[in-house]
Amino acid sequence: MRIGILGTGPMTTALGARLVRAGHEVVIGSREQARARSLSADIGAAGAGDYRFAARADVVIVALRDTEVLQIVESLGDILAGSVVIDLNNPLDPPWFESRYAGAESLAERLAGVAPGARVVKAFNTVYAEWLADGAEARFPAVQVFLASDDEGAKDAVAALVRQIGAEPVDVGPLRTARQLESLAGLEVALVDRGYAPYVGFRLVAGLDASPTAGATS
Ligand SMILES: NC(=O)c1ccc[n+]([C@@H]2O[C@H](COP(=O)([O-])OP(=O)(O)OC[C@H]3O[C@@H](n4cnc5c(N)ncnc54)[C@H](OP(=O)(O)O)[C@@H]3O)[C@@H](O)[C@H]2O)c1
Repeated sequence: MRIGILGTGPMTTALGARLVRAGHEVVIGSREQARARSLSADIGAAGAGDYRFAARADVVIVALRDTEVLQIVESLGDILAGSVVIDLNNPLDPPWFESRYAGAESLAERLAGVAPGARVVKAFNTVYAEWLADGAEARFPAVQVFLASDDEGAKDAVAALVRQIGAEPVDVGPLRTARQLESLAGLEVALVDRGYAPYVGFRLVAGLDASPTAGATS
């Protein structure tokens, strides 16, 4: 599958390398094409160019400076129609790392609004790049990737990608749930900022039995 990634930051490096290893045709887009070419060579990607070049793909991962996301995606709107678009960006501001949009539409919903026809899935936003980096499988617990989307087909496609890179997809609901995912990422960044650990992540622990007496012995 052809997967375009916009941006050349740590998430592109880590996720791009894993997707290349899973056998996908990964292409990278950057404001500076030389930077995209260099990263592409580093991770064994199939091509590099500007954002418009990388946006011509079956799946497009938007991995941009969060303050720039909406403007850049809006400029690509015509190209993104019909593609699965993964939004992993977190609209968080220091010092508290609360969502910039708390109580209102999430960044993911706004992204869907500026790219009509794009099949937007919120995913990977609660996963630190370091958890996806080379060798991380041996150092960290298995990663769960929370998925929120109104497009069930797009969600299934992203879930398949998540499994292919050795992580576990968790369907958390419609795209509106991205509001909570963006806040969850804010809690992670706040904990790291307070020195709790260099990287943190959340796993979903589901009850096996709703009965209050489950597990009790008489
Ligand atoms: N790092 C993590 O662990 C992590 C985890 C989960 C989610 N996220 C989210 O993932 C997104 C990407 O994060 P990241 O840490 O990989 O990289 P980042 O440092 O936030 O930057 C990503 C890319 O944005 C592009 N960009 C476009 N306009 C820019 C501008 N005005 N200033 C700076 N960069 C600009 C740059 O690529 P080009 O200049 O090459 O185009 C840059 O490499 C963010 O929205 C973040 O909230 C990050």
